[in-house]
Amino acid sequence: MPQKTVYLETFGCQMNELDSELVAGSLGALGYTFTRDAKDADIVLYNTCSVRERAEQKVWSRLGDMRTAKHDKPDLVVGVLGCMAERDGKDLMARMPVVDIMCGPAELDKLPELLDNAVRTKSSLASDDPDKARRRSAKQIALQGSASRRSSTLAAAGDSLESLDLGRMVSPIDADGRRSAYVRITRGCNKFCTYCVVPHTRGAEIHRPPQHIIDEIKALADTGIIEITLLGQTVNHYRYEHDSAVTLDGVLQPQKGRTYKGSHHRDAFAGANTTTFADLLYRIHEEVPAIQRLRFVTSYPRDFGNDVLEVIRDCPRICRYIHVPAQTGSNRMLKMMNRGYTIEEYNEFIDRTREYLDQPEIGRPLMLSGDIIVGFPTETDQDHELTKQMLERSRYKNCFIFKYSPRPGTVAYDKIPDDIPDAIKRIRNNELLAMQADISDSIAREQVGREFDVFVEGLSRREHKKRGTDVKPGSGMVGITINGAASKAPVAVLDETPVGETVQLSGRTDGDLIVFFDVPSDGPTKPIDYIGQMVRAKITAADRLNLNGELI
Ligand code: 5AD
Ligand code: SF4
Repeated sequence: MPQKTVYLETFGCQMNELDSELVAGSLGALGYTFTRDAKDADIVLYNTCSVRERAEQKVWSRLGDMRTAKHDKPDLVVGVLGCMAERDGKDLMARMPVVDIMCGPAELDKLPELLDNAVRTKSSLASDDPDKARRRSAKQIALQGSASRRSSTLAAAGDSLESLDLGRMVSPIDADGRRSAYVRITRGCNKFCTYCVVPHTRGAEIHRPPQHIIDEIKALADTGIIEITLLGQTVNHYRYEHDSAVTLDGVLQPQKGRTYKGSHHRDAFAGANTTTFADLLYRIHEEVPAIQRLRFVTSYPRDFGNDVLEVIRDCPRICRYIHVPAQTGSNRMLKMMNRGYTIEEYNEFIDRTREYLDQPEIGRPLMLSGDIIVGFPTETDQDHELTKQMLERSRYKNCFIFKYSPRPGTVAYDKIPDDIPDAIKRIRNNELLAMQADISDSIAREQVGREFDVFVEGLSRREHKKRGTDVKPGSGMVGITINGAASKAPVAVLDETPVGETVQLSGRTDGDLIVFFDVPSDGPTKPIDYIGQMVRAKITAADRLNLNGELI
C-alpha cells in the first residue's frame, strides 16, 4: 500500500494525550507518516473528549470542515477516536457520514486494522465512483459498548489495554528535547459521579501489573526521560492483586516484614500479594533512580492512606504536588454528585497531607490543585458560599473551575434537570476564578527568596513570541502539551540566537510552579543544552503563578 500521511489532533485530558502518543507510535511503526497540517493528510484522526460540552463542540466543527475537504479528496479517511466515539456510537456516524472510523478509548489497539480496512474501502470506492466515496462512510467501528462492565469481558479489556501500552514505541528523545512522559497505571473508573461520563466511556477500572509499569518506565529512562507522570482517573486507587492462589486459605494476609523507610503505617487490607499505590510509588522510586521526578494525576480524595503520604515524604524524587478535586464545598451537592465523601473528610485529608508533606523550610512546600464544578443542579447561594469557604481553606496553587454541563449517558443528565441558569453559573464561575487568582498570587509571592530545583522545559512563551516561533498549545499535534506552560515547539531556532543576547527559558519546580529565568546565549552552557536538565534557581519575583528566578 502506498505510504499514507496522518493528521492526529487531540482534545481533552492527559489520558488522551498518552493514547494519541501510543497510537502515533504504533502507526509510525507500520509506515504511516505524520503531518502538522490537516490539508496535507490522507487520514484525519480526532482523539476526542466528552467530559465537557465545549470539547465536543470543537470536534463537531472540525467534522464540518472535513465534509468540505472530502470534495477535493474523495478518498480521505476521517476517524473519531476516544470518548465521543464511545459515547455517541453509531449515532455519530449517522449524523456525520463523513466519519469513516469510530474507535473507543478501550479499543485503540484495533485502530491499525480499522485504518487499513478504511483506506482500502475508500480508495476502491473513489476509483469506481468519487461521488459515492464522498457520500459513503467506510464504517469501521470498534466500540466497547455496554459489555465493558461484564466481568467476563473485564479480563479481555485488560488484555487489550496491555497490548496498547506494552506496544509503546520508546524512541530516543526527539528534536523538541522532551524528557518527560506519561505512563498509565489505571484505566477506567468505578466511581460513577453523577455528572461524569468517564465511567461510561472508558469503562470499568483496570489496573496494570506493576512489573509492566516498571519495565515501561525503565525503558523510558533508558532513552533519557527524567520525568514521569503516572496517569489514572483515580490514580491513588491503584491496587494490583497478584496471583491469589498464593494467599493462605484464600484470605488476603496482612502485610508482614515490609516497611518503608521509617514507616509505621501500612494499609491493613494489603496482603503480601497486593501491590498498593504506596508500594508502586516506592518501587518506581527505588528501582528507577534515573527518574528524577515522579508525579501522579488525578487523585481521589478518598482512598488516600498515610502509607502513600509517608512514601511521598520519604522519597526525595516523588513530587509534592497533588491534584485532588473536591468539586464542591457543600455536603448536599457532594451527595447529589455521588462523590462518596463529606467536606469534613476532604478537609481532614488536606490537613493531614499538609502535616506530612508541607516543608517549605527544606525547599519543598506542598502544592495542591483542584477542580470545582459550579451550577450543579439545585445549587443554592448557600451551597456556593460553602464552596467559596472550601476554596479559601484549600489554598490550591491552581484550580480548574467548570460550569456544569449535562452529559448524555450520565445519571444527572437522565434524572436531574439542569436548572441553574447559565448567567448564574457564569457569575459563580467568575467569583471563584477571582478568588483563586488571589490565592495563586499570594502563594507565588511566598516563594520569593526560596531556592528550588527547576526542571527546564524549553523556551518561555515570551521568548517564543519574540522569535515568532510560538505554537499555540492545544493545536493538537502529537508531542505538544495541551495545558503545558512551555510550548514544545522545535528548539532548533536557538542555534540562531545572536551572540550577546539572553534567552528566557521556562521550567517547573517539583510542586509544579512555573519558573522563568534568563541565560546568556554565549555562556559556557548553550541555552539549548539546559533543556531537559535540572537546575537550581532562586526566586526573585512573582506575578500570579509565574515565578522569575535566577540560576545559582
Ligand atoms: N460538567 C462540568 N464539569 C465536569 N467535569 C466532569 N464532568 C463535568 C460536567 N458534566 C469536570 C470535573 C472533573 C474534571 C475533569 O472535569 O471537575 O474533575
Ligand atoms: Fe468522573 Fe468521578 Fe470517575 Fe473522576 S472519579 S472520572 S469525576 S466518575
